[in-house]
Amino acid sequence: MTHSLTMPRPDDWHLHLRDGAVLHGVLPETARHFARAIIMPNLVPPVVTLADATAYHARIMAALPKGTTFEPLMVLYLTEGTDPADVAAAAASGLVKAVKLYPAGATTNSNSGVRDFDKVRPVLEKMAEIGLPLCVHGEVTAPEVDIFDREAVFIDSVLDPLRRATPGLRVVMEHITTMQGVAYARSAGDDLAATITTHHLILNRNHILAGGIKPHYYCLPVAKRETHRLALRAAATSGEARFFLGTDSAPHVDALKEHACGCAGCFTATNTMALLAHVFEEEGALDKLEHFAARNGPGFYRLPVNEATITLTKGEPAKWPDKILTEAGPVTVFNPGFPVHWHVDC
Ligand code: NCD
Ligand code: ZN
Repeated sequence: MTHSLTMPRPDDWHLHLRDGAVLHGVLPETARHFARAIIMPNLVPPVVTLADATAYHARIMAALPKGTTFEPLMVLYLTEGTDPADVAAAAASGLVKAVKLYPAGATTNSNSGVRDFDKVRPVLEKMAEIGLPLCVHGEVTAPEVDIFDREAVFIDSVLDPLRRATPGLRVVMEHITTMQGVAYARSAGDDLAATITTHHLILNRNHILAGGIKPHYYCLPVAKRETHRLALRAAATSGEARFFLGTDSAPHVDALKEHACGCAGCFTATNTMALLAHVFEEEGALDKLEHFAARNGPGFYRLPVNEATITLTKGEPAKWPDKILTEAGPVTVFNPGFPVHWHVDC
């Protein structure tokens, strides 16, 4: 039995850091284990231009604890008014590594997202030309589509037509939650990849809804039935280059989670690597963890694998704080509901 595992320092290819007091509270949780992260731009107002991304990058760097090395990889929020020339300049600057597509209304702070895909065609064509990835929140928002079907419907009605209309566009299907997402990610060449979160490897929809509603397990896309969770586990632990970690760690203070209209998001930055070691061990695939968390992502984003390493060791039951205390209020750390015995040494 393996009790210790050394691997390149991981990266998180989908992370919400927020701003202000929450940023200060949660950033150390990610920077402790991760070398880099793709930083989601769904602030209020969103990070739309290179100037916005440059200013947000500076705020993140200013919030980093002294002596920590962490590289935020910035992302622009695609709007119907996005200027292709600004996107090209952002990519050329080296600061911005992707553009994010939120269908309008799909999730937290997505009102500035795209309604009419024809309006963003020039931006997508420019991105295909320069090789800048498009990160896609893959859910339709039509009220008549059942929330558990929104990802599968999006793939057929939006994503596939969009990719066919824009040959060469490099796309990351973010936080896939279904076997249809896994199958579609496998249907194309190396211009298509998919991220998978830690919590979607652990939760199915019963965990959210059976035996009392669990607001801290509610996220978007919402966890689906067990067959989908098993398909995600098989994909994540396969070692295939197209699947990599995007935690979608999405902090909201408890007052907004434990609420009559609770916010979507699971906060997993603190314990993700321990949880992943547990999951990969359960699947008999500990040797694939470094592919999922440290190698496949840089491969897709055409960046070097981190030279620094972390070591995971198995021992006593792991402990982490129930909550991260920020000046905006406490943020509950994801509780998997089972004991975990893995520890991270940096
Ligand atoms: C994210 C957030 O809170 O910003 N929430 C979530 O449930 N994942 C938005 C998102 O990534 O959909
Ligand atoms: Zn997200």
